[in-house]
Amino acid sequence: MERLQKVIAHAGIASRRKAEELILNGRVKVNGKTIKELGTKVSTTDKIEVDEVPVVQEEKKYFLLYKPRGVISAVSDDKGRKVVTDFFPNIEERIYPVGRLDYDTSGLLILTNDGEFSNLLTHPRYGVKKVYIAKVKGIPAKEALKKLERGIHLEDGKTAPAKVNLTSLDKRKGTAIIEVTLHEGRNRQVRRMLEAIGHPVMKLKREQYGSLNLHGLNAGESRELTLHEVKHLRTLAQTGKIGHI
Ligand code: URA
Repeated sequence: MERLQKVIAHAGIASRRKAEELILNGRVKVNGKTIKELGTKVSTTDKIEVDEVPVVQEEKKYFLLYKPRGVISAVSDDKGRKVVTDFFPNIEERIYPVGRLDYDTSGLLILTNDGEFSNLLTHPRYGVKKVYIAKVKGIPAKEALKKLERGIHLEDGKTAPAKVNLTSLDKRKGTAIIEVTLHEGRNRQVRRMLEAIGHPVMKLKREQYGSLNLHGLNAGESRELTLHEVKHLRTLAQTGKIGHI
């Protein structure tokens, strides 16, 4: 169930404030009855009309994309670069990415047209678990990785506890593969954390988001989430307080 003014705004008929005016002015009907109360909630099966014209409610859609490197996490780009919605040419709903992966980061990205779901997942105080695989310059010492686990001071504050594992290293090339598990989602966080301990990221991929992973997908491929997956992510976001890793 969603607020009537929100549904009208989402359908692209008016801004949220203008939609409220439409309701107060008696121009909105729900199932044939004029509604003047702003608190009214409606479902996708309710028949809504504005000035006797039916409002088409967009179906909620949820996708998982294996974002390749060299793609912007946006719906358009003024420099004409490839954007994540280019991978969904046949989707009519206005989906957009939930949060962001950097242009040079590959991996798991969710796209949806469900604003509430997106807000829940990107809320700064709660965060589902995200697992990143980073290839870094140099071979970090155990103590440096421990520092990242406890939290490190970045320009936007101390990071919450994280899990950091060195999974492999190449002594000859002087590089290492690090797995970083975070609940936060700050801008360029993994790159900044690893830079802060003197091991800049050469390559970065997000492998997991909550209970989701990239199994069965190649870069550039996507699939629709199941209702169960959507429900599970909602629960994870509501219970996954930052600070508990
Ligand atoms: N951390 C980063 O540094 N970049 C991303 O794209 C995601 C997390």
